[in-house]
Amino acid sequence: MNFEFTEEQLAVRDAAREFAQTELLPGVIERDEKQQFPAEQIKKMGELGFMGMMVDPKYGGGGMDTVSYVLAMEEISKIDSSASVCMSVNNSLVCWGLEKFGTEEQKQKYLKPLASGEKIGAFCLSEPEAGSDATSQKTTAEDKGDHYLLNGTKNWITNGNSASIYLVIAQTDREKGHRGINCLIVEKDMEGFVVGKKEDKLGIRGSDTHSLMFTDVKVPKENRIGEDGFGFKFAMSTLNGGRIGIAAQALGIASGAYELALAYSKERKAFGKTISNHQAIQFKLADMATEIDAARLLCLQAAYQKDAKQDFAKASAMAKLYASKVAMDTTVEAVQVHGGYGFVKEYHVERLMRDAKITQIYEGTSEIQKIVISRELLK
Ligand code: CAA
Repeated sequence: MNFEFTEEQLAVRDAAREFAQTELLPGVIERDEKQQFPAEQIKKMGELGFMGMMVDPKYGGGGMDTVSYVLAMEEISKIDSSASVCMSVNNSLVCWGLEKFGTEEQKQKYLKPLASGEKIGAFCLSEPEAGSDATSQKTTAEDKGDHYLLNGTKNWITNGNSASIYLVIAQTDREKGHRGINCLIVEKDMEGFVVGKKEDKLGIRGSDTHSLMFTDVKVPKENRIGEDGFGFKFAMSTLNGGRIGIAAQALGIASGAYELALAYSKERKAFGKTISNHQAIQFKLADMATEIDAARLLCLQAAYQKDAKQDFAKASAMAKLYASKVAMDTTVEAVQVHGGYGFVKEYHVERLMRDAKITQIYEGTSEIQKIVISRELLK
């Protein structure tokens, strides 16, 4: 494995860092407080090529590799995880799935505006009673010949209201279990589709998480992705890549908190010297930096395997499992380093601590990652 980044990868990282500092940092506290979606910022991210980074340029994407995507996700997530989850879902769950498994017609119609950032996508798998147990879909897609009739409810959908193109997983033939599930491309203005309530969340409060309701929505057959019954495999394969994005998000939350703690420790004085001169703080910084480096290597390993077209399911689950734990541990310690200041909003670390928690829950809880990893080990 080559540990050197290419000039192009470094340029992507620097562009993401610059964008995060100049466009995302101002207003991030207010957006968190008001639960305000960063619409303007996401539009600019689209213009800069961050919303379809890995998509072939012939479909309006950036044609970049997954390593570049990890580097950009880390930088954006250091500052604003509400923006980075929108970016992650659009890139890895929606664009990647459409490019890999969609028809040419679907790519022309749906992938192009998503990859260029003109439109935002959402990935709709979770339901009130089907989170980890993803085969237990209650949403139905009844086969009516030339179309499917979609009925049901989806929960906790990222980009729920800001999206206009939705990949919806639904059961067509219950008898066939996971082989009876399909993924349908649903447009926001299809009759019978209603965006439900916005969730009031602990973290990533600027992101736009909604329930969605489908009542007799007529979805044309040509909007199904893959063969009949391919929907569950589609969702699982797509999530393997999505987990790299969320692992990189967790990495960014951790490294953002660490950088703040490091800088603060060199300014704050206690007992006659800066707190960076106290071993109690030095040990915390050493632990944080070591764990963050290990998490980064796991993220890059998963990205490298994906780019090399190897089987990366285990690597991406490991990266997400570990990086999300590091995000949680590091942010708690970063608040501790800041003492009382860490508990107030203007120092940013309390927000990073709240944002860290979701990385252990979405795109498969930590327990799900352990299932994925152990299955691969025991194959
Ligand atoms: N990659 C590729 N294929 C996979 C796979 C993976 N990681 N996991 C399972 N499959 C395939 C299996 O090979 C199997 O195919 P065959 O029948 O051909 O052998 C098929 O899928 C069914 O597999 P299982 O019988 O193993 O399925 P299961 O019911 O035991 O569930 C699970 C497996 C790993 C627990 C799965 O349900 C899972 O990953 N659950 C978590 C779902 C999840 O991550 N939800 C997050 C919602 S999305 C989100 O959060 C987005 C957002 O908004 C940010």
